[in-house]
Amino acid sequence: MSTQKCLAMVLAAATLVGATACDFLLTGPPADADLFDAPIPGLTPEEERVFARGDAGFGQRFSPREGLGPIFNAASCASCHSGDGRGRPENVLTRISIGTDPAISLGGPQIQDKATPGARPESVPGGVDVSRRLPPPVFGVGFIEAIPVADILANADPSDGDGDGISGRPNWVTPADFVPLDEPGGGAGPQLGRFSRKGQVSSLLQQISEAYHQDMGITTDFLPVENVNPQFGSLTQSADPAPDPEVPAATVRAVVDYVRMLAAPAPGEDTPTRQRGDEVFRQIGCEDCHVREFRTGASSVAALANQRVVLYSDLLLHDMGDALADNRPDGSATGREWKTPPLWGLRIARDFLNGELFLLHDGRATAVAEAIELHGGEAAASRDAFVGLNDADREALLDFVRSR
Ligand code: HEC
Ligand code: HEC
Repeated sequence: MSTQKCLAMVLAAATLVGATACDFLLTGPPADADLFDAPIPGLTPEEERVFARGDAGFGQRFSPREGLGPIFNAASCASCHSGDGRGRPENVLTRISIGTDPAISLGGPQIQDKATPGARPESVPGGVDVSRRLPPPVFGVGFIEAIPVADILANADPSDGDGDGISGRPNWVTPADFVPLDEPGGGAGPQLGRFSRKGQVSSLLQQISEAYHQDMGITTDFLPVENVNPQFGSLTQSADPAPDPEVPAATVRAVVDYVRMLAAPAPGEDTPTRQRGDEVFRQIGCEDCHVREFRTGASSVAALANQRVVLYSDLLLHDMGDALADNRPDGSATGREWKTPPLWGLRIARDFLNGELFLLHDGRATAVAEAIELHGGEAAASRDAFVGLNDADREALLDFVRSR
């Protein structure tokens, strides 16, 4: 059968459910290994039900009637975290502050550049420190959450005691008041920050409650008071008619559990070139920050406990030099520091971004080599070693990184 005829048949049969004679032309769904939104294996039936509920919450597009706004950045979690992976430049969030003061009266700590009818969007005021953040992937965060604190701290070397030019600092952060003390990442006093670009958030519950509140203008039991544009006074009833809180704690918790139970995609197949790339990755110091693996400790989700986590990150902060500095502190992170991003999932990242790729904290790099060439500060020696590689080793290293 010709392709054309077959396509015509498929169109004609589009309303029918069932096989057609040209099934062979239709590509099947990708395997779980090639998705970012697959659950980790071994969930209990109850956990699978929660996962499905949270999946629906993650995908829900809010309308103004359902509580979107009055000011917001996007209408759903999924619109910024494409396919549960990273975002695109149009999803970049702008954070502002004056030093560590969140500049609330000027619209901080985050600029909401959209508004529902009846409200006015915010714009970046003068005289503030500005940081632009590309949405990172959300898969694998349950594994990151379950790595014991001591194992992450074991790689920290804040004063560069071993003299290798690489320090690595934890970001100690105070959890928000609404985070229960027994929540992962909660507790009295400073906790290890593991999430967001500067590791400025210790708990997934906080990350996600604030995403509802700040990114979508959705109030929850955890943050029940609307965020408004301080320049234009109080909100009018028509801009957001939904009663607060707009989303109950149970939904927030289901979405937290959903991202917690997302699997991390496995790396691509091992080839001799990639094995060579792996050696080069170690030799030129990439692995000093992009630490290959950890093991999780205990977890409330049995399937997350005592697992190997091959993520290529130390989850610590590094001074990355002038070119990458945003000059805006965040928690105890300085305006020159960024948390090492995991490299897992790069293999299929383009599949969720229309074939494109956006790397680094603000998405300015569109290829792996470009991202490496922009490394500076503590990573300058490693970058120089990369730039000095012979063609074969350079290609092997890039193939290895692109296949993670
Ligand atoms: C407007 C875009 C946008 C929307 C909408 C959004 N996020 Fe995010 N998300 C981001 C950005 C940007 C960051 C990084 C923030 C930073 O570094 O300061 C982030 C960080 C995260 C992280 C931390 C990931 C990590 O590994 O550090 C999680 C988890 C997350 N978001 C989940 C969600 C959920 C769940 C929702 C919906 C309730 C949501 N996000 C809505 C942009 C968005
Ligand atoms: C001193 C620690 C350090 C070293 C050494 C280092 N990196 Fe990085 N890497 C980082 C940090 C921190 C970022 C994030 C910078 C930002 O977002 O502006 C990063 C970002 C990246 C990214 C972009 C990831 C993404 O999701 O946006 C890639 C790819 C990468 N590094 C690969 C490498 C390779 C390959 C090497 C070795 C040549 C290397 N890095 C050496 C710390 C390091």
